[in-house]
Amino acid sequence: MNRIAILISGTGSNMDAILDRIDSGHLDSQVAFVASDRPDALGIAKAARRGIMTEILPYGEGRAQGEARLVELCLQRKPDWLVLAGFMRIMSPSFVSSHQGRIINIHPALLPSFPGAHGIDDAWKAGVKVTGVTVHLVDELVDHGRILAQIPVRIKESDDLAKLEKRIHRAEHRIYWRTLKKLFDGNIPERKDGSR
Ligand code: GRF
Repeated sequence: MNRIAILISGTGSNMDAILDRIDSGHLDSQVAFVASDRPDALGIAKAARRGIMTEILPYGEGRAQGEARLVELCLQRKPDWLVLAGFMRIMSPSFVSSHQGRIINIHPALLPSFPGAHGIDDAWKAGVKVTGVTVHLVDELVDHGRILAQIPVRIKESDDLAKLEKRIHRAEHRIYWRTLKKLFDGNIPERKDGSR
């Protein structure tokens, strides 16, 4: 069975949606741990209430310290995959390269459009008619790497930013666990050149 570690920075609604699907048996995974770079992340209390091991990474001391603790945790708890669910830190190239092809992220826009910390807001301000959600493997660049799945979300005339955010989050909660399942079941084919 796959073991996943989930990294968060905030509310943890994406984490919750994944944990719900593990609990219901739709996603066959074990959670090695949930970690946050922020001590005040709401998701940490939610994970702890579910009986999952949680950890605050010491990013306050610097990225090197945060990542060093993450490396230690990975060695102890041996997750197969690192699932970023609203984790708002950029990982160092050396961390990414030593976990190549095993870090997955969700982004609230249709990459390569609107990368960065404000994907929903930026799409809204740009006035696009369709935005969406992307699940991708993480590489050394920000919000970049092999796209595993995307789901479009139309922006309606009647929308305001809050309504759009709600629909984006609903789309995230639908797409993330399904994409993880496909990936873990080996149902995402390798690229034609054999790379991920
Ligand atoms: C999500 O929109 C995710 O795509 C973005 O940050 C948000 C995290 O929300 N990177 P939550 O903590 O999962 O509720």
